[in-house]
Amino acid sequence: MCALSSPAQTIDIEQLSGGNTLVRIGADEKSKYLLLPIEEKAPEASVRVICGNDQMRTLNLRLALDKVDYYVPFCIDEWRGREVKLLTRMSVDRTNGREVENEICWSKIRLSDSFDKSNREKLRPAFHHTPEYAWMNDPNGMFYLDGEWHLYYQWGPYGSMWNNMTWAHSVSRDLIHWEHRPEVLKPDALGAIFSGSCVVDHNNTAGFGAGAVIALYTSAAEVQTQSLAYSTDGGNTFIKYEGNPILTADIADFRDPNMFWNDEIGKWNLILACGQEMRIYTSDNLIEWTEDSRFGKSYGNHEGVWECPDLFKLPVEGTDQQKWVLICNINPGGPNGGSATQYFIGDFDGKKFTVDNVDRYIDGKALWQDYGKDHYAAVSFSNAPDGRHTMIAWMSNWEYANVVPTMQYRSANTIAREPFLYQADGEIFLGSRPSPEYDGAGLDQTVKVKGSCQILLANQDGEQFAINYDQQTMTLSCDRSRSGQIDFSPHFNEVATAPVHRKLSSIRIFIDNSSIEVFGNNGEVCLTSLVFPSSTFSELIVNKR
Ligand code: FRU
Repeated sequence: MCALSSPAQTIDIEQLSGGNTLVRIGADEKSKYLLLPIEEKAPEASVRVICGNDQMRTLNLRLALDKVDYYVPFCIDEWRGREVKLLTRMSVDRTNGREVENEICWSKIRLSDSFDKSNREKLRPAFHHTPEYAWMNDPNGMFYLDGEWHLYYQWGPYGSMWNNMTWAHSVSRDLIHWEHRPEVLKPDALGAIFSGSCVVDHNNTAGFGAGAVIALYTSAAEVQTQSLAYSTDGGNTFIKYEGNPILTADIADFRDPNMFWNDEIGKWNLILACGQEMRIYTSDNLIEWTEDSRFGKSYGNHEGVWECPDLFKLPVEGTDQQKWVLICNINPGGPNGGSATQYFIGDFDGKKFTVDNVDRYIDGKALWQDYGKDHYAAVSFSNAPDGRHTMIAWMSNWEYANVVPTMQYRSANTIAREPFLYQADGEIFLGSRPSPEYDGAGLDQTVKVKGSCQILLANQDGEQFAINYDQQTMTLSCDRSRSGQIDFSPHFNEVATAPVHRKLSSIRIFIDNSSIEVFGNNGEVCLTSLVFPSSTFSELIVNKR
């Protein structure tokens, strides 16, 4: 047994048999955090956090073997006055014959009252939402209430690679500046907290009080089930429902519940991703759900798992028609590789979704909301003002999300967008306009277009990002092959191409420190791309072709 760090710190580390280690933090320890040394190349160790004889948490940690990439804080505050133990099991391939004592994490692990969250990443976006530190993927449970846009998100607090999923929380009043609030849902005995949705239960249908915010999320362990939590303080803290899970099924991929109030039938609807189809349910109280139909077999793209659904009704611009849009994120299978957001247009009678024109979706054909490589898990805010269906996506791609060249944090969200339906060539398409909050905010540039052209975004380091509009082939494409760091993944250096359905008269561009979002005709065609340049693209050159 060895005592580490300064004498004031009571941390004892004991190597046991078979690659197991026992860390003890004394009952008289007053520090708030245990700082865990992480090395991203190290395999995951499974760590049980124990207080008394009870297991409090299970963590999967890439504890440093040879070098410390960064520290992550594990808060031990809630067990102050009691001994906290970490029983760490190293997998065989983790130690790889090495003496456990020689793993650098054991000499570097330490206690601290503070954790420095100040930004260390020069590529961190200026006006896109990012987590303060560690890993982020899908936006979850987004809703609007009393002037605030609430964004929860898949957060992995113990490293900048996917794992240990919780719901973290950020809030914005203008969709530009985000305030980080404490995480709201942590893993429990039913599993990690995967994606889901929130609604404001104005009429107390669930019995947790009028105006309670109800969250449905996936509990993910050996099986995936759906669980409920409610908030009576406007979404800042949640209480998990005693009767969880509230929905189960005999299928492995069963996740990402998205619910909404359907005025046309006076009931709640729920859409859930199940393997490669969507299941649709109704409920009066948000707790008991009846399955009414399934959608998706033989329609659209099936090269990957269907995830993160959404379903809402929109007017078709320029007509007096309204249509339902079913959002289906899929990984992989995207039009330019990896994960992407496909959509279906049709009708929904409260129980069954029917596509309008089957021909558009047969033989693997699919329609996509954004043809860039970095638009995934897009869903809409609930309870948004003026009937809006404002959407935000995760701005990355599962092909390389875990290895993009930032370390303090990984992943940002797209800017918020307003989905709309427009007609072209006798068909209806889904477009996405930057939300009105960005108008006049000085974050974007618009290039007027007359015929084919190339727009080059360049920086002082000789790097560039090319946007090509070809009016002969009616395509808009983005080429990031010379945009800076690209070699961290073989999938990153790819040109993304989108079909254009109406001749373009403008291309609107949002450039941030590590992303470029391109909107043809202000959102009829969208391409979202990550970039990792040496300096920001400050020059814009237009070449006619
Ligand atoms: C989509 C997804 C969801 C799941 C979550 C887990 O990116 O795979 O289906 O709920 O991420 O983090």
